Amino acid sequence: MKRIAVLTSGGDSPGMNPAIRAVVRTAVAHGVEVFGVQRGYQGLIDGAIEEMSARSVSGIIHHGGTILRTARCKEFMTAEGRTKAAERLRGLGIEGLVVIGGDGSYRGAYDLWEEQQIACVGIPGTIDNDIGGTEYTIGFDTALNTAMEGIDRLRDTAASHDRIFFVEVMGRHSGFIAMYSGLAGGAEAILAPENVTNIPALVEDLREMSRRGKTSMIVVVAEGDDAGNAFTIADKVAEISEFKDVRVSVLGHVQRGGTPTAFDRVLALRMGAAAVEALLAGASGVMIVMENNHIGQRPLQDAWNTCNCYDPDLFRVSRLLSV
Ligand code: F6P
Repeated sequence: MKRIAVLTSGGDSPGMNPAIRAVVRTAVAHGVEVFGVQRGYQGLIDGAIEEMSARSVSGIIHHGGTILRTARCKEFMTAEGRTKAAERLRGLGIEGLVVIGGDGSYRGAYDLWEEQQIACVGIPGTIDNDIGGTEYTIGFDTALNTAMEGIDRLRDTAASHDRIFFVEVMGRHSGFIAMYSGLAGGAEAILAPENVTNIPALVEDLREMSRRGKTSMIVVVAEGDDAGNAFTIADKVAEISEFKDVRVSVLGHVQRGGTPTAFDRVLALRMGAAAVEALLAGASGVMIVMENNHIGQRPLQDAWNTCNCYDPDLFRVSRLLSV
């Protein structure tokens, strides 16, 4: 394989830049020409593909976002879109593609490989940490630390005013950020899609903690919680209880930006190098994963057919610790 390309797709995550850097430099080190695709699959269809060099990725290791930019591309979900994309790659003599993104992006890579025989390797890049087959995705650690810092700051003001704060963190289908940031921030309650939320039971817990002398409390809510968003839950609590003076804070997209942590950078560098070496060794239809601190490979389908879920015991531990 003499020419490969790299793209980022779906929601950006901190650590995508170090991953791009590793892909480009590993390719260069192996004497392979490497191309960057702008705006994910959309750029593939539009032909926004440019050659990169070791110098094109200088000075990006500490930047959040992605220098290649990203998009969620509807056209690529069609066979016509994928045919156009494959023609662009073949026109440039590109035989292999590294896709950095979440499971939606992997489904596109899987179809491109199956239908068009373009060798594709995925690198898990999403703050949600919800990709099956890998213990960690690039960006989760940074987002988690950003969320924890937000919770720490809100605790200062909650304690000063004797208030309850409902803090909404990201995670449409996954409570990883909620559970880990809640534990790390000492939250009094953590509501996530993995557990059924019962508002009257939550009110009882808050009352019990209040009886035990807590004058302020933090409830972390995953945006995908089954009982609704943080505003809905806070309103219901206020409606059925004596806790009327509650506040809601939605941390939102600040969790997606910012300088990647050392953990995310090293993970990205290891996965980026492994992805290129996998392509050069003839692999396709696989994603790079981290299992027991080892970098390995798994079929792309594992991303959506298996679950990366947090240890359910963490929910019990979080309740133990909020006495
Ligand atoms: O998948 C990453 C993520 O940040 C989710 O946590 C969140 O629900 C979603 O993306 C938001 O997507 P968008 O940036 O398109 O609003």
